[in-house]
Amino acid sequence: MTERALSFDAVAEQYDTARPGYPPALFDTIETLTGRPLRGSRVVDVGAGTGIATRLLRERGADVVAVEPGPGMAARLRLSAPDVPLVRGFGDALPLADAAADLVTYAQAWHWTDPARSLPEAMRVLRPGGALALWWNVSDRAVPWIAEQEARLREDAGGPAHGAHGTGTRDRHLPTDPRTVERRIPWSRRVPLDTHLDNLGSHSVFRVLGDRATTAFLTRERAELLRLFPDGTVEESYVVELTLTYRPTGPSTP
Ligand SMILES: C[S@@+](CC[C@H](N)C(=O)[O-])C[C@H]1O[C@@H](n2cnc3c(N)ncnc32)[C@H](O)[C@@H]1O
Repeated sequence: MTERALSFDAVAEQYDTARPGYPPALFDTIETLTGRPLRGSRVVDVGAGTGIATRLLRERGADVVAVEPGPGMAARLRLSAPDVPLVRGFGDALPLADAAADLVTYAQAWHWTDPARSLPEAMRVLRPGGALALWWNVSDRAVPWIAEQEARLREDAGGPAHGAHGTGTRDRHLPTDPRTVERRIPWSRRVPLDTHLDNLGSHSVFRVLGDRATTAFLTRERAELLRLFPDGTVEESYVVELTLTYRPTGPSTP
């Protein structure tokens, strides 16, 4: 798992430029659910990668610390968000003090952790009453071309196209606290075909497939998508799947 979890390092620049961000509605929803503005909040963004979510949290005025294990991803984050403190480490053993954060976030990264460890670690680092927010950009399979692309990828990957269109609910190992809430936030972006293919190719499933199979797949996808989007602009549709839970305010933590 660790090797694949850190496979993004090989494609850090491509990841940073081609992966989608997250819509303002996601951050509005987190503020509404927690009843607290991000501005001035102490946020720990775990599995921060190249800083896609970190930068957006920072733009909302949060006081963010990024945690990232991968050297390539961390190097890119240092360039893209030089003023954000960055700690090298894993969510399973956070190198941070107890009760140091109002909010711990995992943007597309929770599924790489061992939740038996990462959940108590997040609770330890949160102040009592603080919130843990996990989210994923999941491709909207209700859109026919996205469902068809996933079917082609499944065929090539010889099994579940894990990760290429978002991991969805099945891999999450979610917190079971009764106050846990889930929200689905649809959004879309229009990008050049090259950006879409770079985005697709930055997923970990392609590190497993290898260069030759990846090139063959992406070449076929280009031809397929040009038929659908002859002007070369692809509309990617997503649903952000958000799960938010809290550290209890009582003396014990789960
Ligand atoms: C799909 S990327 C998400 C990056 C970023 N949060 C974003 O929204 O683009 C997953 C990140 O999790 C990191 N990662 C892998 N295993 C991890 C672990 N056990 N704890 C924390 N981060 C981990 C990877 O190095 C990678 O940067």
